[in-house]
Amino acid sequence: MKEWTREERYRVLQSPEEIRDLHDRIAQSPYRQAYHVQPVTGLSSDPNGFALYDGVWHLFYQWCPWGAVHGLKYWYHVSSKDLITWKNEGIGLAPDCEYDNKGTHSGSAISDGDQLYFFYTGNHRDENWIRTPYTCAAILNEEGKPVKLDKPLFGPRSDYSEHQRDPKIVWNEEKKKYFIFIGAQTLDLKGTALIYESEHLLDGWKFAGQLRVPGYEEFGGMWECPCIQRISGKDVLIFSPQYTKLPGRGESTNHNVYLIGQMDYDTLTFTPEGEFRYLDYGFDFYAAQLAANVTENDKAVMITWIGLPDNHYPTEEEDWEGSMTLARELRIRNGRLYQTPVTGIEQLRDGEWTESGTIPECCEADLTFAPGDHEIVFFAKEDGSGGFRIRYDDSAGICTVDRTGMNKRFNQKVFEVLEMPLESPLKTMRVFIDRSSIEIFVNEGEETFTSHVYPEAEERYFTCTEGCGAKVFRLKPSVTDDFVI
Ligand code: FRU
Repeated sequence: MKEWTREERYRVLQSPEEIRDLHDRIAQSPYRQAYHVQPVTGLSSDPNGFALYDGVWHLFYQWCPWGAVHGLKYWYHVSSKDLITWKNEGIGLAPDCEYDNKGTHSGSAISDGDQLYFFYTGNHRDENWIRTPYTCAAILNEEGKPVKLDKPLFGPRSDYSEHQRDPKIVWNEEKKKYFIFIGAQTLDLKGTALIYESEHLLDGWKFAGQLRVPGYEEFGGMWECPCIQRISGKDVLIFSPQYTKLPGRGESTNHNVYLIGQMDYDTLTFTPEGEFRYLDYGFDFYAAQLAANVTENDKAVMITWIGLPDNHYPTEEEDWEGSMTLARELRIRNGRLYQTPVTGIEQLRDGEWTESGTIPECCEADLTFAPGDHEIVFFAKEDGSGGFRIRYDDSAGICTVDRTGMNKRFNQKVFEVLEMPLESPLKTMRVFIDRSSIEIFVNEGEETFTSHVYPEAEERYFTCTEGCGAKVFRLKPSVTDDFVI
């Protein structure tokens, strides 16, 4: 694994030519995704600034141009008309101001009907590497490029630690105010969110207070990427607690959870109805963001980073890593979130795959199950060994997902086997396989499981036990790997 110096990681990109060769080289990788958004070069992590505006979906990702390393972060911009076919748009935000000199960190978007606004964290560091996070804004101009304000909206509070970032902007109709939720850490190292309020998007911001979530006062050491949205009359609070282990999550200290409840903007209290849930049971899933400006009241649209902080992936050797999930629709049913792949994804189908016993590298597998135990194996070798194995124990109601059988193993100390408990017996799975990821939607989206996976040429066999019906469709590419900076 390459050791990066600080100078290398935080180098400012002066000209696209500096990374053209890197782009051309990684474009040859067998693990480049065909229908998932991925980094143009280097590393992609959190989705940012996700919004529908003027008929176009705008999405940005945290991007480090130089390689598979968390260094100087830009917002890289992609756009789509349908959330399925994506186009590279080039750099969205560059860390080119004093207040964001060491990174344009994560944030969100909102439209007031006329314009699209972005709120992000300017990650400033001084010569002693002391960090000051600023909350900053930008506006999409007529050429479709975000233009930054000259000055930050506000700086950090001294009664919290330096971890104050990832503004999520929302409008509250009852109070006729905008609110910004900021992921934060208290001085005694507890995760939380800070709330700011204003009647205007670009000025008048004042600190309203710390978010209160009864029962969650000691829940991780930092809440990254908070996100809140009303769906079907409930508030859904999503965040990524870190620096803590949680039940059933192996040795991982990075998680993505949600609560359903009611947000009271007078008392700044989110009252959960029931326990937290994992947003996804998979190995690689973090920093989920819901799109702004979705007008249906009963659904949200989410995109998430397939990956985790502090983890290492095999394509690091090729100087790139990371991917976004498919866009997913979220709805509340039975007091919980159901996730389904974006409507219309079927348009990527390129005929049914009839070579039974194998799977093509980019495909959708639709599985149905008779009652009872099952075992499903993707990416097995010809003799049926190895692979990405899913065992369903009907009496326990648990799917166990085991990736120890893959040739390329990674993050072994964190987890390679995870359990996904099901609320109801296993009936269906919709599985989306791309060149380096697998996304599984169980029982019409009751649970999901997302993981990176890096199959080698011999790992292309598929088996399932009796009582499992499988229909496999080859999928067409829907992202272009062109060099737009
Ligand atoms: C989450 C995160 C955010 C931060 C960004 C920096 O993965 O650490 O809190 O803004 O990544 O890239």
